[in-house]
Amino acid sequence: MKRIAIFASGNGSNAQRIAEYFNEISEIEIGLVLTNNSKAGVLKRAERLGLKSVVFNRNDFAENAKVDILLQDHEIDFVVLAGFLWLIPEFLINKYPNKIVNIHPALLPKYGGKGMYGMRVHETVIANGEKQSGISIHYVNNKYDEGQIIFQANFDIEKGETAESLAAKIHELEHEHFPKVLERVINTI
Ligand code: GRF
Repeated sequence: MKRIAIFASGNGSNAQRIAEYFNEISEIEIGLVLTNNSKAGVLKRAERLGLKSVVFNRNDFAENAKVDILLQDHEIDFVVLAGFLWLIPEFLINKYPNKIVNIHPALLPKYGGKGMYGMRVHETVIANGEKQSGISIHYVNNKYDEGQIIFQANFDIEKGETAESLAAKIHELEHEHFPKVLERVINTI
């Protein structure tokens, strides 16, 4: 059995999709959902799904190792970032080499980096007149959105496309691909 921890700061639709997908797969399960935001939608979703969740703060993450201990206590083998906005401390990256994966709602290496999240990404893509957008799933290193890319899927941006319509299409692609790509990666560890 491999156990996943999901970190999310917001709505948590990807977290939910991942949890539902792995419900059907006996060798992989969600051990814990972690958020830095006590108002995050992901907490309600976790509750509905019967998943254990915790809220943590910056000290818990980087200073006093509470998050680290939680991951150990829940025997976590693999970490998924699904809309999580903080940088992962280097000691955790070193503890989970090639075992932390993030999803980004654009075609990296463009439109990534600090501050490039949420609607800002889609607004910038549209403002720049890009012909395509898509999703990137990548390993996490100590820089925002710069780890090795594992998977990308793209589509053409249509005439009259808005940041909102782009966001909806991206979410659909994320929900379709993220769980499957995770399964593939987790099966190699
Ligand atoms: C997704 O678009 C993901 O690419 C980005 O944050 C968003 C999270 O969406 N990192 P949700 O909270 O899973 O609905």
